[in-house]
Amino acid sequence: MKWSSFIAANGLFAPIHAGLLRFGCSRLTVQRLDPLVNPGQIPSTHLHQIIGGDSFNASMDAKSHDIPKLSTCTTCQFTEDLSNYWTAVLYFKAKNGTFKRVPQRAQQGMEGTQGGMVVYYMTDALFETQQKSKVTAFKPGFRMLVGEVAYRDREQARDFRQLTYICMQNEGTREPETLHFPTKPCPAGIMANHRFPTCWDGVNLDSPNHRDHVAYPQTGTFESGGKCPSTHPVRLPQILLETVWDTKAFNNKADWPADGSQPFVWSSGDATGYSTHADYVFGWKDDSLQKAMDANNYVSAPTLKTQTIAQQNKCQVPDMVKEDFDSWLTKLPGDIMVH
Ligand SMILES: *[C@@H]1O[C@H](CO)[C@@H](O)[C@H](O)[C@H]1NC(C)=O
Ligand SMILES: *[C@@H]1O[C@H](CO)[C@@H](O)[C@H](O)[C@H]1NC(C)=O
Repeated sequence: MKWSSFIAANGLFAPIHAGLLRFGCSRLTVQRLDPLVNPGQIPSTHLHQIIGGDSFNASMDAKSHDIPKLSTCTTCQFTEDLSNYWTAVLYFKAKNGTFKRVPQRAQQGMEGTQGGMVVYYMTDALFETQQKSKVTAFKPGFRMLVGEVAYRDREQARDFRQLTYICMQNEGTREPETLHFPTKPCPAGIMANHRFPTCWDGVNLDSPNHRDHVAYPQTGTFESGGKCPSTHPVRLPQILLETVWDTKAFNNKADWPADGSQPFVWSSGDATGYSTHADYVFGWKDDSLQKAMDANNYVSAPTLKTQTIAQQNKCQVPDMVKEDFDSWLTKLPGDIMVH
């Protein structure tokens, strides 16, 4: 059994050993904004769902935009986490060609959270109850992107390790993981998993494609304790984002395409799932993340301040784009074609 299903099956329990955080964050906003790829552009190309601190904006310059200082609240359980995390949005494409946004569902134990994701920071593999390895927390101004919006096949998708989907039969399902969208209806929803690279060049807070300053371990994986390459020697915490897309309203096979294909598409126009991507802009206060990674923490951390789910849900940013993304739409937001 995988560790995450162990967590789901057993609930959250006594601390065992160091360095793992798991926490819920509700929706901050759903908008066509992308301060990393389309900075300053209102609207950006495709729709995103965004969590984290309310300093989120169309433009978040690494030097001038001081995230902890400019934020007044966060949608995350740990109030020192004012970072932002975002992914594309899932749509259902009906037989008549119209699109409907798929809602997001809170995970067990986090009921009441409006939309959003579950975030992990790990020092070792998720199923290792002993989180014991040393990691260097991200620095102010750090940001990165994982995945490639243009990808449409399996060979391309192999460039990124562990960007996966789980077809949830029930709340505890954590396998198998696929690189493509599930091909059958998933009774408890589709979980999208985004695991970020864990090796840093130690110098650049960003890079032109937002990817080259980070890398995967040279051999093996983060999970197998693989060593970072000499070009990217600094070991980072592994960030994992879990998003549960609540497909319940769309699981009737009679509503699915007659050719046997599956009906879900990313807001970026991808019906395969291979273009799955996620963005991260670091914004923890002071050294709160490093301290939490260094101490004997498991899931939660006594050094971190927390807030209630009701408080998380209250944090929002203004709607800057003002477009309808929620009715049955004849086109995806931004007139994105499925391609
Ligand atoms: C976003 O940026 C604009 C332009 O700099 C600014 O006027 C606005 O107050 C910012 N919004 C938030 C929520 O910080
Ligand atoms: C298209 O199909 C959906 C799902 O069956 C339905 O709710 C919607 O009203 C239809 N739209 C049109 C324009 O027929």
